[in-house]
Amino acid sequence: MSHAENDAGTRRDFLYHATAGAGAVATSAAVWPLVNQMNPSADTRALASIFVDVSGVEVGTQLTVKWRGKPVFIRRRSPEEIEAARAVALTDLMDAKSANSNKPDADASDANRTLDEAGEWLVMIGVCTHLGCVPIGDGAGEFGGWFCPCHGSHYDTAGRIRKGPAPRNLDVPVAAFEDESTIKLG
Ligand code: FES
Repeated sequence: MSHAENDAGTRRDFLYHATAGAGAVATSAAVWPLVNQMNPSADTRALASIFVDVSGVEVGTQLTVKWRGKPVFIRRRSPEEIEAARAVALTDLMDAKSANSNKPDADASDANRTLDEAGEWLVMIGVCTHLGCVPIGDGAGEFGGWFCPCHGSHYDTAGRIRKGPAPRNLDVPVAAFEDESTIKLG
């Protein structure tokens, strides 16, 4: 039996029998060291958020950074990419949810996936939602966005799945502009 089960059992016994308040205190004290051991170290916490300088990212190009062990695509879209993404009707999408951690309940309209209102900046986790390969960018695939070569998933210029086995749009992580040339992830 694990410590957690032991502790749960002790707490249940206390609730059922209501014997001694001191018993409950002792249980709590025993749990804390375990919880503390499970907390991330200071090093890990420091990596929870990162700041990315995007001042050198040209229109129509993409910067890929590693964050929390995964690639993150930071794309500065061209007017053509924005226009193509915004021209798509929601009814044409395979996944109608935004997949945007900043707007979890929103639909997958292009405006609900981009970082800025003009839609120039698109930040996404660069991991195919099928089985986790890293899609190829820079206008790849049949929809001019990203293409996952592992099993042939095509994403459009908003990173939305349009064809292939991937079940969901590419995820948009928690992100925001810290200042005009810095994006904070996390
Ligand atoms: S992992 Fe991308 S299509 Fe299968």
